[in-house]
Amino acid sequence: MVNVAILGFGTVGSGVAEVLAKNGEHIDQKVETPVRLKYILDVRDFPESPFQDKIIHDFSTIENDKSVDIVVETIGGATVALDYTRRALRAGKSVVSSNKELVAERGYELIQLASQMGVSYLFEASVGGGIPILRPLSQCLAANELTEICGILNGTTNYILTRMIRAGLSFEAALKEAQENGYAEKDPTADVEGHDACRKICILASIAFGRHVYPRQVPTEGITGVTLADVAYAESCNRKIKLLGRAVKELDGKICAYVAPHLIDAEAPLAGVEDVFNAIMVKGDAIGDVMFYGRGAGKLPTASAVVADVMDAARHIRSRKRVEWGPGGEDVTVSPEGVP
Ligand code: HSE
Repeated sequence: MVNVAILGFGTVGSGVAEVLAKNGEHIDQKVETPVRLKYILDVRDFPESPFQDKIIHDFSTIENDKSVDIVVETIGGATVALDYTRRALRAGKSVVSSNKELVAERGYELIQLASQMGVSYLFEASVGGGIPILRPLSQCLAANELTEICGILNGTTNYILTRMIRAGLSFEAALKEAQENGYAEKDPTADVEGHDACRKICILASIAFGRHVYPRQVPTEGITGVTLADVAYAESCNRKIKLLGRAVKELDGKICAYVAPHLIDAEAPLAGVEDVFNAIMVKGDAIGDVMFYGRGAGKLPTASAVVADVMDAARHIRSRKRVEWGPGGEDVTVSPEGVP
């Protein structure tokens, strides 16, 4: 049995609890061991929630409970989340995160710490929500030399730009609509100023090129300066305005990364990516161009990626436990020469 604790019962945290409960049987079968939600840490109580009996308020309960194997961090930010992640890893627990700010700023340190402790630090959901991208980059495309990543990495700004282009709304009106529809936060700064896309291109570049790229190194411009006159000009030359994050490995090995609004050909694949959808193009020397497309945000799409990481961590724990127990039982025979 593998026990899980969720930190933060907001949109993503509650989505993770829901997916674990709804798909529990299937998850247990795939992992070949029961995966149980033991705690949910939040400052609030949720008396109406079906998960209310799991709610706790003190992180040390999780930290000190040796039966908790996996901690899911969906708190966000890089202060409390950093402290809890370090403490969970030091306590020998694997950590799964959807927190792009923390991964972009501290991913390298946390991966190192996880590796020292012999546990996992996984963060597929930190880029592209439910779109599988980090694992494909590091595993399925591992045979390639990757030279470029370019994508629409922020659903909120893509929604705003889509509404400006399609409905002729001003930036302010489109932002208000995005907030009313629950896409944009009350404080939309991180999205509209490009910080969210910047964090994501940092994570992508770090995985693709094997060197940590920090947000402070990446020139970033959001979409607050985009006007309807810009949209009309783009249309007049058969272009669309898209906020892109781009990272290129130069011939001398240096990495060039930035986030900015781009004018792209109206027929280009990224031009057809609308509303809150994300798409990420990757260039490799063997595969050529490959594009990943899907829901880059939202409760269940993001939970889909988080729970897949939980299952991966659970599989590692299960196999490690098996290795630690060593061979034994009547079905194991070792020849005098040893195992071939
Ligand atoms: N605010 C982000 C977006 C959420 O709009 O894409 C997912 O990271």
